[in-house]
Amino acid sequence: AQQSFKLASGGKQIPSIGLGTWQSAKGEVAKAVEHALKNGYRHIDCAWAYGNEAEVGEGIKNSGVAREEIFVTSKLFELHHHPEHVELAIKDTLKNLGLEYLDLYLMHWNINLQVDAPEGVLPTQDHTIKAENGKKKLDVALADDVTPTWKAMEKLVDQGLTRAIGVSNFNINRVKKLLAADIKIKPVANQVELSIQCPQPELVAWLKKNDILPCAYSPLGGTDGQHLREHKTVAAIAKKHDVHGATILISWLIKRGICALPKSVTASRIDANLKSVDLSEEEFQQLEELSKSHPPKRVCDQSDSFEPFYDIYQENDKEFS
Ligand code: A2P
Repeated sequence: AQQSFKLASGGKQIPSIGLGTWQSAKGEVAKAVEHALKNGYRHIDCAWAYGNEAEVGEGIKNSGVAREEIFVTSKLFELHHHPEHVELAIKDTLKNLGLEYLDLYLMHWNINLQVDAPEGVLPTQDHTIKAENGKKKLDVALADDVTPTWKAMEKLVDQGLTRAIGVSNFNINRVKKLLAADIKIKPVANQVELSIQCPQPELVAWLKKNDILPCAYSPLGGTDGQHLREHKTVAAIAKKHDVHGATILISWLIKRGICALPKSVTASRIDANLKSVDLSEEEFQQLEELSKSHPPKRVCDQSDSFEPFYDIYQENDKEFS
């Protein structure tokens, strides 16, 4: 059976491998999700911001797999941090996915964009306030203290709209700040970029110590990750186990106690990515060494698209500064 991780919230466990849907084109993602679920995946990772949740929902429906068998995650976008928008946002996600509840709802980023939308209306990108240079304006106060947004997310659990809540793209200090605030529910997961080129060992160790599950997006290094999947160390281990390089990168993450969310819209790759192998201690150490052997690199850093300049990875994330 597929491996899974316990969440601090109890209840349904989270399968250690989920299908990522970031950058999956609308015309391709329904088939990808359907194929994944029909071939053993039980975990789908989505977000309002990806703009393809209706197609993901179509794939879930067409798979015929029962709702309760699937673990579905989505994320509260940075346009929707105002407490009055949080419930509207999850309801829009649920409508698009065609579901009655999520298993996990994450605060997508520790940033909040300034919006101007009529009362009772869920803001879209068209409601974003822009600076003169075209960059998006941040509401820095609400980004620096996410407690009001988090409290609104806690209510979603009480209402049964999601089983658990967590965060995404938070560094250690930002999670610490949230834990120190007057909150009822602790985040159960932190989804961040994690891969052999972005290993984040400090963050992973700290999260595990605090019973927060680290989840990996871009686990294969994203669209430009071919050199990682084909790296000679990875390829040699893959050859021994007779699997794809991608399978080795995913197996390494799982052995580090991380939930992996590889994205693919290609049937054969979707199948390969669900496999994981039991790495020997020696193989694991070779991969650990590889992860330390080059400067950490991020696939996703949207810091410079905001005004005023605001480093979303600032503090305690020095290895990336
Ligand atoms: P595609 O979706 O066209 O199949 P990440 O999960 O790190 O973001 O990586 C996603 C990228 O890696 C996508 O470009 C995806 O392409 C590609 N990819 C996913 N799985 C594999 C695989 N098993 N082998 C090679 N490329 C893969």
